[in-house]
Amino acid sequence: MVKLIAEQIPVSAKHTPLLVLGVFEDEVEGIMNELDGISTTIVEVVERIVKDKEHTGSFGSSCIVHCFTGPMQRIMLLGLGEKKNLDKEKVRVLAGKAAAKAMEINVSEYSIKPFAQLTKDFTEAVCEGTCLSLYKFDQYQSQKIGESSHGASPVKVSLLVDGDREKWQRVLDTTKIISDAVNFGRDLANLPPNDCSPEYLARVALDLSSKHQRISARVIERYEMESLGLNGIVAVGMGSNRPPKLVIVEYRGNEDSSTNVPYLFVGKAVTFDTGGISIKPSERMEEMKFDKTGGCDVLAIISGLANLEVKANVIGIIPCVENMPSSSAYRPGDIVRMYNGKTVEVINTDAEGRLILADSIAYGIEKYNPKSIIDLATLTGACIVALGSNIAGALTNSPELFDKLRRISEKTNEKFWELPLYPEFNEQIKSKFADIKNIGGRAGGTITAAIFLSNFVNKTPWIHLDIAGTAWTQDGTWDKSYNPKGATGFGIRSLIRLVLDESGSK
Ligand code: BES
Ligand code: ZN
Ligand code: ZN
Repeated sequence: MVKLIAEQIPVSAKHTPLLVLGVFEDEVEGIMNELDGISTTIVEVVERIVKDKEHTGSFGSSCIVHCFTGPMQRIMLLGLGEKKNLDKEKVRVLAGKAAAKAMEINVSEYSIKPFAQLTKDFTEAVCEGTCLSLYKFDQYQSQKIGESSHGASPVKVSLLVDGDREKWQRVLDTTKIISDAVNFGRDLANLPPNDCSPEYLARVALDLSSKHQRISARVIERYEMESLGLNGIVAVGMGSNRPPKLVIVEYRGNEDSSTNVPYLFVGKAVTFDTGGISIKPSERMEEMKFDKTGGCDVLAIISGLANLEVKANVIGIIPCVENMPSSSAYRPGDIVRMYNGKTVEVINTDAEGRLILADSIAYGIEKYNPKSIIDLATLTGACIVALGSNIAGALTNSPELFDKLRRISEKTNEKFWELPLYPEFNEQIKSKFADIKNIGGRAGGTITAAIFLSNFVNKTPWIHLDIAGTAWTQDGTWDKSYNPKGATGFGIRSLIRLVLDESGSK
């Protein structure tokens, strides 16, 4: 794993295999000021490169200069694009590109001069771009990428700062923990469905609790769910011979009884969604291994918050099931009595996510009376139709809570778009034989899924996040240096920051 170090040292004195320097497209000569104190030969080479337009500073382009003499062995000129356009997201992407290039040329460590100015936002972005772009999921590949002659991951990146090294190191340390949480979430979500069963996820939660003093975990088994009346989860799990598990993880970072009301996160973890008896078409069905991402994200959020030692209490509820067709599977036509007593007519067994989330939310409210609930779920294909594969749907009963998330998302660049939760949509899920049914027809599929969930939420501030389009890189996903193929960990950064900001730590 890469280490990020803030170093207070003039650029010209830094001994390093690679020094990364940013070049603005509309201020190319500005690079000459950055080279203050560096040997004149190198300055002349760089001058020639920019004069001859071998490097123009266009966004994301790079050019490596070998130095032969002096403390740095190479310089990477990295195009920053136009000065007025540089923002936090661009810095994140650029840091990701620099890291990828460094890996390609096989340097084990490099140094980076902050682009334009040294700010908290840009420092966070350098750290995120670096850690997130170096992520690899290669545990199933016989020849590891890092084992070939090219492409070993850098192990150390130095950010060259002027003044208050410790302050910048703290920013890097916090951001590194958050980025590691994202990569942990990605690692879980990328696992194949033969290895990652509900039981496996339960084991991961128990492992977290044995590693962290302040995390505890418990697993509610199928027979216990039956006796508690968590019949939505039991029903969806019936088709698989890998039994469902209801995983509950608690992080206790706040002992102060006047402020310790917990946050509740609920994550859909369908370890594989075949659709059940209402079976899905086989084309791209393998992608349904990512239907567990919401639950993996919740495990990652709790682990990140614990590593940050945040002064808050956080509960994660993760219903884990495999949705399979078999002679024991639940059927269209079944009527299920849910945990809160409402009856649901199953019309389509592929609309399973809302059944397991509904029980988990109702159980979480009753048991923990949380201050807020945020659920994450790859819930509807309709969300991809509505918002594409780069924006998550957000449906909420609390404009105040969503406003907080929206403000944070401007910094994290994880995009959430609100869809309306008008109660009139309840009409679409009226059932002939039960209180409600589990699908609401083609119109407004993401909204009717959320309306279904709203039947299990009381007045507690709640946001439902539909991450069907954003949980992994798919058709239409914007290419980003820091999002390698597969699970993205979308949402983890924003939700950790939400709790971190609210609890006043860091
Ligand atoms: N896991 C799927 C939703 C999904 C589909 C996520 C594609 C990401 C990509 C969910 O369980 C599902 O199958 N939903 C159905 C609901 C329908 C039957 C009302 C859907 O979206 O088609
Ligand atoms: Zn489904
Ligand atoms: Zn699903």
